[in-house]
Amino acid sequence: MKIAVIGPGALGSLFAAGISRAADHDLWLLDHNAQRAARLDNKLLLNENGRELVCPMRITADARDIGPVDLVLLCVKSADVADALALAQPLLEANTLLIPFQNGIRHLDVLHDLPFHVAIGVTAQGATLLAPGHVRHGGSGLTRINFLKPQSDRALKKLNTAVHLLNSCSFKTEISPNILSHVWAKLLVNVGINALTAILNCPNGDLLKEPARTRMVAAVREGAAVAKAMGIELPTDPVAMTQQVCRDTAANISSMLQDVRRGKKTEIEAINGALTAEAGKLNVPVPVNEELVRQVKELTNP
Ligand code: PAF
Repeated sequence: MKIAVIGPGALGSLFAAGISRAADHDLWLLDHNAQRAARLDNKLLLNENGRELVCPMRITADARDIGPVDLVLLCVKSADVADALALAQPLLEANTLLIPFQNGIRHLDVLHDLPFHVAIGVTAQGATLLAPGHVRHGGSGLTRINFLKPQSDRALKKLNTAVHLLNSCSFKTEISPNILSHVWAKLLVNVGINALTAILNCPNGDLLKEPARTRMVAAVREGAAVAKAMGIELPTDPVAMTQQVCRDTAANISSMLQDVRRGKKTEIEAINGALTAEAGKLNVPVPVNEELVRQVKELTNP
């Protein structure tokens, strides 16, 4: 199978490294940054269970080197999805299956009516980029994928092949009947944790202490009200789920706090910002989230 992973961040590196270690696939990693792609020297280093594993693959910044592929795992940040799709044009033909894995919901706007198959991915895999080309597998969680709309048998066959591939690479994966509800479940976890940890400059576990906890719960409850108004049924109680993630990842520095610390653009627009936009369309009040958006923007644009 010919596979391209786009984006050498934590999740993209983890998927690429895992696939390279499993079966004999024609595996490529596409990086928009040509200098970094050259420095990676056709390999990644995977830190797993205390071992360092060298994972060979072809790495390029020029999608023409790759050509059409069967499967694309799109692992760039939400705000970079449109640019990544433009860069990846030579990879994408009518029979290609693209699976995007982004936080938030903004990417969904640019991923419909495309001339190839697009299924949505939601993963609970834990990965940390230790340095460019060096990823640590933090913990295994379930990966869920599915199309947002009914598809042809051909597309479903492709999806099954992708699920089989990921499972064969030890990434536990299933086709989830209502993928949008899982996108929203993850969104609400990020709504509760990411902005607040960035503002308070604290690890995820600190949000379980007052007064942060009350604010986190309020933000998630607002999100649940928006989901309800949109007719999205959440798979589980979002407040309980968010608190559980805080416990499970107590020592983690959230991706948004990492972005703030590195002076990088955050995903606030894709997460709390996208939520407030949907709330506005439906007249659902979301003052806690509006304030979180305002405060995170203040942190990044002093
Ligand atoms: O974005 C993140 O950091 C993660 O999605 C999560 C679950 C909040 C854990 O840090």
